Amino acid sequence: MIYLGSDHGGFELKTKVKKHLDSLTVEYIDLGCDSNDSVDYPVYAKKVADKVIKDKTSLGVLICGTGIGMSIAANKVKGIRAALCSDCYTAKVTREHNNSNVLVMGGRVIGEELAKEIVEGFIKTDFSGDERHVRRLNMLEESDC
Ligand code: RB5
Repeated sequence: MIYLGSDHGGFELKTKVKKHLDSLTVEYIDLGCDSNDSVDYPVYAKKVADKVIKDKTSLGVLICGTGIGMSIAANKVKGIRAALCSDCYTAKVTREHNNSNVLVMGGRVIGEELAKEIVEGFIKTDFSGDERHVRRLNMLEESDC
């Protein structure tokens, strides 16, 4: 399952991402927002982060204007590894190396076609499971910083 969230700055791109997920027959749940009306991104970051933490097999996709606010907010939730991506390479490698469970994009930064490729790369790539990556992720889990 893919949990989607955006603020008003990411609403339009989220609508396009949803159409792409439909075409791939990938299941998703959109946790809002539901229009271009101004909302607060931390609310939607938290909604998606909480779902992803509860369902370990799921992934999240968050979109705000720049992607920065959603990244900061989502990464405050323990166990969330949110990656702000504006290119396909980063989107794939952050799954392989960082086991990122939330993809973040900037709706005012990247275009539709790139966003669709980024999302597809992210959701179709698995964590490598390599010992060195597991070790580093464990260090992050244990860290208080
Ligand atoms: C909203 O105008 C904008 O600040 C928000 O979408 C995001 O870019 C914050 O990081």
